[in-house]
Formats: sequence, structure tokens, C-alpha cells
Amino acid sequence: MAYIKIFDTTLRDGEQTPGVTLNTAEKVEIAKQLARLGVDIIEAGFPITSTGDFEAVSRIAKEVSGPTICALARTARADIERAAQALEGAERARIHVFTSGSKIHLEHMLRKTPEEVIEASVESVRLARQFTGDVEFSAQDCTRSELAFLYALYGAAIEAGATVINIPDTVGYGMPLEYAELIRNIRDNVPGAKEVDISTHCHDDLGLAVANSLAAIGAGATQVECTVNGIGERAGNTSLEEVVMALGTRRDVWGHETGINTRELYRTSRMVAMYTGVSVPPNKAVVGDNAFAHESGIHQDGVIKALETYEIMSAETVGRDAGVLVMGKHSGRRAFRKTLEELGYELDDEKVNVLFKQFKDLCDRKQKVTSEDIRALIDAETARVPQTYELMS
Ligand code: KIV
Ligand code: ZN
Repeated sequence: MAYIKIFDTTLRDGEQTPGVTLNTAEKVEIAKQLARLGVDIIEAGFPITSTGDFEAVSRIAKEVSGPTICALARTARADIERAAQALEGAERARIHVFTSGSKIHLEHMLRKTPEEVIEASVESVRLARQFTGDVEFSAQDCTRSELAFLYALYGAAIEAGATVINIPDTVGYGMPLEYAELIRNIRDNVPGAKEVDISTHCHDDLGLAVANSLAAIGAGATQVECTVNGIGERAGNTSLEEVVMALGTRRDVWGHETGINTRELYRTSRMVAMYTGVSVPPNKAVVGDNAFAHESGIHQDGVIKALETYEIMSAETVGRDAGVLVMGKHSGRRAFRKTLEELGYELDDEKVNVLFKQFKDLCDRKQKVTSEDIRALIDAETARVPQTYELMS
């Protein structure tokens, strides 16, 4: 079964989430957790940008074992030397050199001709190779670039020694079929592309980052760049937990495996949410509060009988408690009785019916009914009719 490398960029692209700054100690903690999670590569930062970034990459390189530690650099000597210095002491080090591929970026941002961009890229990849045998090369904005230029640029980078070529959809513009086609074209037309890793790096501006990453894997990509909880610039990056669980749950479709210990997914998500202060939306796949919660009567009835009626993966697989029944106005009598039992009450049908009616009335007044509310209903009934509702022994 083909192996897909998971390249985590939570500490680099993820930290570019508006309003997020992580201190070095937090970054080291997250990196250690990413190692427990089993990611293949940790992009720890962009050392030239600040002393803080340099220190974080340097500590992670020395203190975190397992994954390859990667540092980002532009096509500039100072960036590459600083990245190499920060990576000293790493078990395995990668330098990630990036430039841009689209006319829009070349004209307005880099202010360089295509020839100048190729020349700087070749020199930079060669320089990076003097420090490590593992060099990744990216051209931003590939989904808005001309194919002929991308072929020439990536071909030159591979010839200069790049061992991984990353194809970023920097602005989240690509559509799954289109992005897959781009990956396939690069794989088939760039000399040497079949001998190096081809990587996806997608942003979520149109909500397609995970879909695009999967499409790229279908077209031959062997590495996925992603972040925990999908955090990142603007709408964020490909969400690590979603892409990993899509590959794992639908192995029949993708036929690929990753080295991720999925039981660490939830813990990693909680840690990143806590340190970054970016909360996870309740309906977020895999790690959101509601991802394994069932409220409607029909669904609750189904999962009480057999979990797989409404769950395609088990909560335990991603390191969470078993799927929960959420009591609300859509809940049925059966789930209500189960909740009473879990609270320690075994009641006959008549008593359950009285309480169920009160519970439904309460649901009309209150959006979320908790176990405490149900206990309060029982207490009120017990006060009205003493000794009616006794706890099971
Ligand atoms: O989105 C992007 O293009 C990037 C590159 C630096 C790889 O983050
Ligand atoms: Zn990015």
C-alpha cells in the first residue's frame, strides 16, 4: 500500500492565522505532541523572520526526535544560511526553499523576470543542498501560473538537487479536478518529477483544501501539507485530522496509508486550540464537539441499536469518548430512557412517560438540555410525589 507523508505546518503556516502567536515553549510542546501523533515532517518555522522563530526552530531541532524538522527560506542566501543554522542538531533536517510561479506574483511582488526567478531558485536549491540532502522546493500560486513556466522552474529545481517539489494552491483557487490535473501534468512533464516526492499545499478560501489535497493524492502526490484544526492564513490550510481520517476511513477508495496514530488526533487538536486561542467550531469534522453527537430521535435510536447506523468511524479511533447522545427537542423516548439509566434511574414506563413529557416541555424553553436539567426534573417530581424515583442500587 502506498505511503503518504504527512507534513505538518501548524507551527509555520498555521501560526500565520490572524491574531495567533505562539511562544517558544508552546511551540516545543506542540512539536513533541506532533511527534507522538506520528507526522513525518514538522515545519517548525521561518528562522530569518525573527529571533523568536529562529529559537523555536533551533529548540525543536534539538529536542524533538522522530519526524524530520523543516525550516522555511526564500530564495536568498541569508534565509538559507539562517535556516541551516537553526536546524543544527536535528536528527533529520529539511530546508524548504520557496519562490512564486504566477505572473501576478512575479510582476507585483517579486518584481523579477521568469529567467531571474529560475536562476535564483537554482542557486538557492544548490546552496541548501550544501547543508542537507533533503531540500523541498515550492513556487507559490501554482494554480494561477502558466504550465510551461512551472515545468521549466520545477525541472530546474530538481536538476539543482530538490528532493521534494511542493505545488501550492496559495490562494485556495483550485478546483479538485483541476488541481489533480495540475499534479498529473507536473508529474508527467517535468523531468525527474517521478523520482522525487510531489507535495500538495492547499488553502481553504473556497472550502476545498481537503478535497483538493485528496484529489492530488489520487493524481500521484506523495506528501500532504496540512495543519492541525486547519488553522492558517485567511480561511486556513488543509486540516490534518480531516485528510488523515478521509484516507483511513476510505482506504477502499484511496488505497494509501499514513504513519499517523489517529488516537492522538483529538488530544493534538485540543492542545493547538488551547495554545493558539483559536477555538474549533462545534460542527468541525473529526474534532468538533458535535462530530460524534446524536440528537434526533431516529439517529439516537439507530446508534443505541448499532453505532454504525449513523457513525462512519468510531470516536475512540480519534482518541475521543464514545459517541454521545445529546438530549434535545428531537430526542426520542428510547434515548431519554437510556440517559435516565446512565444517570442511575431505572423507572417503569409510566414514570418515564411523565418525565418524558416534562423533558419535552423543557426542550421548548431551553436549547440544550443537560443531565443536570434531567436530574432537576426528577428531583422536582420526587418532591411532589416522595419516594417515587429511587436511584438504582
Ligand atoms: O501557501 C503557500 O504558498 C505557502 C508557501 C510558502 C509554501 O505557504
Ligand atoms: Zn501556505
